Amino acid sequence: MSNVPVRPLQGQKALVTGASSGIGAAVARAFAAAGAAVGVNYRSHPERAGQIVEDIRSAGGEAVVLRADVSSEDEVRAMFDEFGSAFGRTDILVANSGIQRDAAFTEMTLDQWRRVIDVNLTGQFLCAREAVRRFLAQSPDPSISRAAGKIICMSSVHEVIPWAGHVNYAASKGGVMLMMKSLAQEVAQAGIRVNGIAPGAIKTPINREAWETPEAERKLLKLIPYGRVGEPEDIGKAAVWLASDASDYVVGTTLFVDGGMTLYPGFRENG
Ligand code: BGC
Repeated sequence: MSNVPVRPLQGQKALVTGASSGIGAAVARAFAAAGAAVGVNYRSHPERAGQIVEDIRSAGGEAVVLRADVSSEDEVRAMFDEFGSAFGRTDILVANSGIQRDAAFTEMTLDQWRRVIDVNLTGQFLCAREAVRRFLAQSPDPSISRAAGKIICMSSVHEVIPWAGHVNYAASKGGVMLMMKSLAQEVAQAGIRVNGIAPGAIKTPINREAWETPEAERKLLKLIPYGRVGEPEDIGKAAVWLASDASDYVVGTTLFVDGGMTLYPGFRENG
């Protein structure tokens, strides 16, 4: 018999940014199924965020939509206020919003560089700072979690794999990794657990071109020893574990969920 609770996030209040599509949407759904009340943040697609909230509610869960651009300090603060008024407390943040603006290095505009850093790195800073403030301002509730708060920073295999043509994106994710670890070191003594997830190639809108046609998928699979492109649900399940007490001793770590993409698959037949 297993002693893993069926709903490991029961009673917890979780805010997920960038939750109207892709990995964020899967995390929101997985969290709701695990018993959390979920804030579904979006920036530009209210109808998609609304659909996710509706699905969660019709399955008996609790969710609210929250509009905010995570790169805006004021909007992030207002979003946490709204989340707090809806659910009373904040237990978990999944800082997931992320974008790509790809370009060859000599063609990359300052705007492409800035937008990616603003959303992927500064956005996580702003949301994590607000979450930590909320965690510290409320009393911990050991009946729902051993930790006083949990943050999951959605990173990428590109926090360690250099990526030509995507210098802004790789720089943002490398930054996320050391922001996550430095923050984890700073707040662990307050009972707050900060960790990261580094997805590999997952079928979402951000990389549609890389998996949409059979030729593209065949090429992509050369980079994935496990032989399949990931599904958003693969990340949803990992996030539930990392947010739950099952991972209570996991602090400041990146969990790679990548089918082995970080195993240097080029060395199977070479080197
Ligand atoms: C990127 C995807 C890419 C994957 C693996 C992700 O972080 O957003 O576009 O397919 O890394 O390279």
